[in-house]
Amino acid sequence: MNKRISFAGPSITDKEVSYVLDAVRNGWYENYDQYTKRLERAFADYIGVKYALATHCCTVALHLAAEALELGPGDEVIVPDFSWVATAYAVAYTGATCVFVDIDPDTWTIDPQCIRQAITPKTKAIMLVHTFGHPADMDEILKIAAEHGLFVIEDAAPAIGATYKGKLVGGFGHVACFSFQGAKMTVSGEGGMLVTNDENIYRKACLLASMGRTDSKAVFWSDMLGFQYTMNNLTAALALAQLERVDELLAKKRQLFDYYYQRLKDVAGIKIIKEKPGYKSNYCYPSILLDSTITANRDEILARLKDLNIHARPGFPRMSLFPVFNQRFENPVAKSVEQRGISLPSAANLTEADIDFVCQNLINLLHNS
Ligand SMILES: Cc1ncc(COP(=O)(O)O)c(C=O)c1O
Repeated sequence: MNKRISFAGPSITDKEVSYVLDAVRNGWYENYDQYTKRLERAFADYIGVKYALATHCCTVALHLAAEALELGPGDEVIVPDFSWVATAYAVAYTGATCVFVDIDPDTWTIDPQCIRQAITPKTKAIMLVHTFGHPADMDEILKIAAEHGLFVIEDAAPAIGATYKGKLVGGFGHVACFSFQGAKMTVSGEGGMLVTNDENIYRKACLLASMGRTDSKAVFWSDMLGFQYTMNNLTAALALAQLERVDELLAKKRQLFDYYYQRLKDVAGIKIIKEKPGYKSNYCYPSILLDSTITANRDEILARLKDLNIHARPGFPRMSLFPVFNQRFENPVAKSVEQRGISLPSAANLTEADIDFVCQNLINLLHNS
């Protein structure tokens, strides 16, 4: 069997190993939260925001964001109908209602025009996603939010290092969240980060992330229903080492995308999701859409690639169809990506020869099956 061509996977060097070893050996007693604090400061400085709170994972960071904005029953939150379900469940945990809207066919991020159409007097927030590392259309979204007095939450889970008009994503909305889960560009196994410039949001999120503990009336006193969502020091050591290598990891992702682009750009029937002018994607998950001229079945293609030890992924199913939610809009673009979208392998250990192998087999399957 040939080398496994993994969909995703990190680059781990001596730096990561030495930080984790140091945390295991010395990250106790007075140093128990040293790496967590260093990570939070370094992350806030990197994004260019005032505050960062490290969490167990991005899902809980998103939940904290929604709670800190006091979303709840009776509120509507506009969410793109194409994402990992954490985006929507984080809203649903608060009791607020998700209103699922369509995505832009060129970027697979939330379509601002669809946001406008979905606004009602109950709308309280927009939860956008920088999908697969491509920034959402921030100017338009912020304009709509300002016109209607809405909160903006950036789900930047896979998008570390991506920029919109030269500014890193994560610094645009009222609050933003990132993931360090193992398939992301910077990993710590599980891990998340909430960032904001708003001191009130930060303070509320910190309180909620540590069980609402205030010590106000006694040691261990809690003043609100909180959660245990904080990141441990060992995880933070790994995340910090990865963050310190972010430019190198970003360059690798962009290089892999470029290998794909050179080989697939002129292939009939494929639309490559490529960054638009003014946007810089981190290409966490390079993706394509098969157009209607391709008669081969998408899932069949994925299965045949898997037989070759090439691990690609289908587009997300529309979350609006999940039993937890009630669909309100049709969302045809999200439907087409669900049915005809493919995300290609971009693990950090892949080489140009591996991408060549993927592309040759993909093209062969598209046109000969
Ligand atoms: C868009 C999006 N939001 C949220 C998450 C949740 O991140 P985590 O696994 O760190 O909870 C993911 C993870 O894949 C994601 O892709």
